[in-house]
Amino acid sequence: MQNNITDFVHWFRSAAPYINAFRGKTFVVAFGGEVVSEGQFVGLAHDINLLSSLGVRLVLVHGARPQVEAQMQERGAEMRYVQGVRVTDEPALASVKEAVGIVRVEIEALLSLGLANTPMAGSDIRVAAGNFVTAKPIGVLDGVDLQHTGEVRRIHAEAIQKRLEDGEIVLLSPIGYSPTGEIFNLTLEDVAVHAAAALSADKLVFLMDADGVTGAKGKLISTLTVAEAQKLSDKKRKVRDDLAYYLPAAVQACKQGAKRAHLISRHRDGALLAELFTRDGVGTLITPTPLETIRGATIDDVGGILNLIEPLEREGTLVRRSRELLEMEVDRFLVLESDGMIMGCVALYPFPEEKAAEMACLAVQPEFRRRGLGDRLLDAAQTLARKKRMKELFVLTTRAEHWFEERGFVETTPEALPRRKQVLYNFQRRSKVLRKII
Ligand code: ARG
Repeated sequence: MQNNITDFVHWFRSAAPYINAFRGKTFVVAFGGEVVSEGQFVGLAHDINLLSSLGVRLVLVHGARPQVEAQMQERGAEMRYVQGVRVTDEPALASVKEAVGIVRVEIEALLSLGLANTPMAGSDIRVAAGNFVTAKPIGVLDGVDLQHTGEVRRIHAEAIQKRLEDGEIVLLSPIGYSPTGEIFNLTLEDVAVHAAAALSADKLVFLMDADGVTGAKGKLISTLTVAEAQKLSDKKRKVRDDLAYYLPAAVQACKQGAKRAHLISRHRDGALLAELFTRDGVGTLITPTPLETIRGATIDDVGGILNLIEPLEREGTLVRRSRELLEMEVDRFLVLESDGMIMGCVALYPFPEEKAAEMACLAVQPEFRRRGLGDRLLDAAQTLARKKRMKELFVLTTRAEHWFEERGFVETTPEALPRRKQVLYNFQRRSKVLRKII
């Protein structure tokens, strides 16, 4: 029992950073109709309820393939496909309407559970479904008119945002309407990708048959960059499992503004929580930012560093450094490298007598800002300073005072600087001096 409690406390604490990070974030969770017809939605509803109560803004996208097929069979209607795409004629459309209705109602019912002694106790979820998706016909493919088979034309993101702001969960069906009132049958991937892009979702999660993306020998691949995922999806195009739909969709969503995509198992109860609240997850994570490393800079990095800091020097955020100076001082720099590209840098100038080090030239590529890379560089510089037995870090800044203050730096005066630095202090620049005991 004691062990259980220790584990529980440990686990809960380890989830805390994610709980904080996810509050107010937008996640799109997409799953096929099987999740409902095979009974997995009950467990999923518990996890959705939990995420929602932690302040995650949730958009659910459901599919209805098995339900549509069942309806068609009941009607004795025949299914026709062109290049793997269903032709939605009138009888098929009737089946789609019925199937989508059934799935939607079932999802709403399960999200309305509030039984005592279940994970849904005390939950009060409002589900908003509606005409959030405008669609257009795909048209003619290989000489066949696909009729009511359509694709997403527009997601009404502002309307969805309003619902999310009110604390509601938005449910999107694989169906869309045209401005002339026509109904179109869509794929859930199409809806999910467009919704994730239109909402700049922080995550797009697909629930699938396998545990995630598997590599050679069937081993799960835990993380992929968008570029890697793209390559893999081109290779796997011929395999006709759900990955053939979800992997390209995940790639597309990331390219269009979703921050991360996850592919996880629909069969594993709690996979969603395990993926989101542990560092290593249980499925495959696809990220636009490749997993980077921070290392000491060498002379070969001078070009990359210049390229990074020049725009900031031009706008006056950083003090100008000549190439010569940079070449001389490059061993003071740490760089954050990714895919051979310098995405960020920071320099550390120790003043051993005072046991203080100046941290300077902290910069991150503009397209990779707001992803915590600056924090990682700061951490690395701090660790290095400690290794060099420094007791204090200081920075001179004209623009980023708040950023440093939020990270434990406090303002001080130029007089507090190490003597050698004081001599160099440029009063005209009127930089703020901030310091932090480390
Ligand atoms: N929990 C973190 C997140 O939601 C990391 C997940 C890592 N997952 C993985 N398959 N490597 O972003």
